[in-house]
Amino acid sequence: MNMIKKMKMKMMVMVMMMVILSEGSMIEQTCKETPDFNLCVSLLDSDSRSSSADISGLALILIDKIKGLTTKTLNEINGLYKKRPEMKRALDECSRRYKTILNADVPEAIEAISKGVPKFGEDGVIDAGVEASACERGFKGKSPLTSLTKSMQKISNVTRAIVRMLL
Ligand SMILES: *[C@@H]1O[C@H](CO)[C@@H](O)[C@H](O)[C@H]1NC(C)=O
Repeated sequence: MNMIKKMKMKMMVMVMMMVILSEGSMIEQTCKETPDFNLCVSLLDSDSRSSSADISGLALILIDKIKGLTTKTLNEINGLYKKRPEMKRALDECSRRYKTILNADVPEAIEAISKGVPKFGEDGVIDAGVEASACERGFKGKSPLTSLTKSMQKISNVTRAIVRMLL
């Protein structure tokens, strides 16, 4: 390899490293402004779409995580009907609450952010946390869903902070 080729290679490696570093710090800088840095970074780092996303792209990825957690929680609720039949009332309430997240909050937030009206996106994201808390209360302190509830409250808060950066 001649000198010029070597130099070109070195330059390319340097540019690639800079791109990788700046992507990392874009996620980190954004996550620093949220109430849960570690959760924010781990959710975004584990998603390949994050590397090319702007702030509204990161918000959409997190809304997708809310959707995933909602589906997971609804599956858990469905399983609990057999294991804990005495909890039917609270489970019905939770099922209704999580379907609201899935069928109203998530699509509303996605549409608002995609269309560039983040103000309306914030409402759906906040409501996901509100619905999860309401579900939790229905068990009167004996919730089998506490850790899923906490996850939803945390993701909702982190996502809200990022959506607010778009306002
Ligand atoms: C989410 O944010 C609300 C409002 O700021 C706060 O009261 C609540 O403790 C937060 N929840 C979690 C799990 O971080």
